[in-house]
Amino acid sequence: MGEFVNVTSEGGVATIRLDRPKMNALNAQVQGEIRDCALQVHRDDDVRAVVVTGGQKVFAAGADIKEMKELTYADMLRHSGVLQECFATLARVPKPVIAAVNGYALGGGCELAMCADFRVAAEDAVLGQPEILLGVIPGAGGTQRLSRLVGPAKAKDLVFTGRFVKAPEALAIGLVDVVVPAAEVLSTATAMAERYAAGPSLALRAAKKAIDEGYELGLDAALRLESELFAGLFPTEDRTIGMTSFVEHGPGKATFTGS
Ligand code: CAA
Repeated sequence: MGEFVNVTSEGGVATIRLDRPKMNALNAQVQGEIRDCALQVHRDDDVRAVVVTGGQKVFAAGADIKEMKELTYADMLRHSGVLQECFATLARVPKPVIAAVNGYALGGGCELAMCADFRVAAEDAVLGQPEILLGVIPGAGGTQRLSRLVGPAKAKDLVFTGRFVKAPEALAIGLVDVVVPAAEVLSTATAMAERYAAGPSLALRAAKKAIDEGYELGLDAALRLESELFAGLFPTEDRTIGMTSFVEHGPGKATFTGS
């Protein structure tokens, strides 16, 4: 449990909450605490899905510019890999992860949200990569995860201009997946997570690995990866439960154990 980032857990769903007033600016300590919380939910077998939230007002307004302003080239050479690694630790959690985005998700905040599998955004949420307005570029995966999510031309539009993207446009370009009234963001994200928490967790893990790691490979290698992961699910209890349930009761009625 960190000073600014904490984890609570209920019914197989862990909620990672950022809480660093006023804007959840991601200073080095917050980045480290995000990494620690990501490792905690990764390792805890009772956690089967994860929600990441910054609370009702703001998801995160990016790296702490006041802290960053004092850093030298040498400092940043040392630190930028650590920053990326903190975020990658969340992206590598082998369970469904949903970002619940209220208010601003800018710079590192948008990059953090992009480490999740899905983004639920408030109607008044604002996303973007405004680093160019500070004379730099996104440094926590933004140029890469954004272009994978929305395509290179739209990513260049957002990164070159630094402009803010409101929820309807974010939905239209695929930067967020669902838009709901602000008061319903966390409950919607939690409901999504609960559905996955009741799913066959080893199959969900394999699906995430196949899609995320397959994306980085050529088609032949990616298909081989899929094939191995597919076969690897046959010894699982949930595979037996799922197929037996289908034969006996029809589709979608299985109660999975996560084994
Ligand atoms: N770092 C440090 N402090 C920040 C901050 C940040 N990223 N964002 C906001 N704050 C601080 C402000 O300085 C202000 O502090 P004081 O009250 O002490 O003056 C407080 O939070 C409230 O901010 P505003 O008064 O600006 O509030 P607003 O409602 O008028 O505007 C905002 C909100 C649009 C988010 C605006 O604050 C803003 O544009 N923030 C910066 C966004 C940004 O550029 N993010 C990218 C950071 S760089 C990065 O993330 C690099 C990377 O890839 C890892």
